[in-house]
Amino acid sequence: MSEKTLFQAIKGDHEEMYEFYDQYKRARERGDVPAQERWVRQLTWEVARHAVGEEIVVYPLMEKHLGGKGVQLADHDREEHQHIKESLYKLESLAPGSAEYHSLLDQMMVSLHHHNDDEEIKDLPLLEPVIGEEASKEAALSFKKTKKLVPTRAHPSMPNKPPFETLIGLLEAPIDKIKDWFASFPAEEEMKEAKEELKTRGHDAAACRTGEEH
Ligand SMILES: [Fe+2]
Ligand SMILES: [Fe+2]
Repeated sequence: MSEKTLFQAIKGDHEEMYEFYDQYKRARERGDVPAQERWVRQLTWEVARHAVGEEIVVYPLMEKHLGGKGVQLADHDREEHQHIKESLYKLESLAPGSAEYHSLLDQMMVSLHHHNDDEEIKDLPLLEPVIGEEASKEAALSFKKTKKLVPTRAHPSMPNKPPFETLIGLLEAPIDKIKDWFASFPAEEEMKEAKEELKTRGHDAAACRTGEEH
């Protein structure tokens, strides 16, 4: 078994964010505005899913196992998330490719980098030795699972699909509401069974259509 520890999972995501930002910067150098928009969207989704995963899985662990210090660190982290979410929210109202857009995104990345570094340098090195490697790996799995439930990207059909009508809806949703939403998904066992069944399913649309009128 070589599952990732929580630190590795979180760190991996952070790296992904920087990669998307690098891609955005390259698109900016080329003057390719649609590509800039695409990378920002990708980055924003990654940040949103990551933040949801941390708020549901990681920060409560810090509060539970690190006493007053954990509560303090988690509160600080949530505040920084809020700040980052507000920047992303504001970004939506700016024109991609404009100077304001670039500068807000650059500022947001500075805050994000600082925040991510705090998690890597302060939070996780405190939490992991207290909970131990097994619990860290378990937490990494639930973090991954939680993230998976949030769509990977803003799909064109998203605007009509509750509860996260838009990306902003996801960013603004109260964490308790998101928790309830996650709880309404099939359990892992049910999911396993469904996945097994999916392997052998093959709906033949054309055959089913036979005899039907057009
Ligand atoms: Fe975070
Ligand atoms: Fe993080």
